[in-house]
Amino acid sequence: MLIYNMKKSSLILPLLLLFVFACQEKKDPGVEHVSPKKDDPPAMMHTSMGQDSRKSLHLNPMQKHHQLMNMRSHLEAVHDIINLLAEDRYDEASEVAYKQLGSTTEMKMMCASFGDKNFEQLGLQFHASADKMSEVFKKRDKDKSLRALAHTTNFCIQCHKIYRQ
Ligand code: HEC
Repeated sequence: MLIYNMKKSSLILPLLLLFVFACQEKKDPGVEHVSPKKDDPPAMMHTSMGQDSRKSLHLNPMQKHHQLMNMRSHLEAVHDIINLLAEDRYDEASEVAYKQLGSTTEMKMMCASFGDKNFEQLGLQFHASADKMSEVFKKRDKDKSLRALAHTTNFCIQCHKIYRQ
């Protein structure tokens, strides 16, 4: 069992590094095309100059992997919610909002696990906004639902402006 675990973890780091470098090569030319608008956030401008002034959470490879998986699932949830709202399937949208983005125990633990109090607060506010959004969907009002979705996705934007892995 121990040997198995060691083998597994000794593979993870090289694989992650490979992934990171492979992505960097592909990504960089794309970033050059981004022309910052006047009121773009500072982080964006720094990225296009090859610098990143966002605060690092200093995550280890396993935390990074876990966080990105979680984030991709957040994006998928937002996508599902948009589709469900478009089809007036409010109850399902409400369920996705709560289960995938809301203040579940798993999410709260995840936010607390990175050792940064401000990050945790922002994360908790984000999840609380998804709880509220889930309630708004139950009223079956499209305008209010879309506004609630915009309010929640604003937390995605705020956190991404401030933090990196
Ligand atoms: C409290 C902070 C926080 C919130 C809220 C947040 N994220 Fe993230 N997200 C991060 C961090 C940190 C990263 C890593 C960014 C980096 O290192 O460049 C990330 C990365 C991502 C990625 C990249 C995934 C990958 O595989 O590369 C996606 C997609 C993403 N977030 C989507 C979302 C969406 C959608 C929401 C809202 C519904 C959201 N995030 C809310 C902190 C947050």
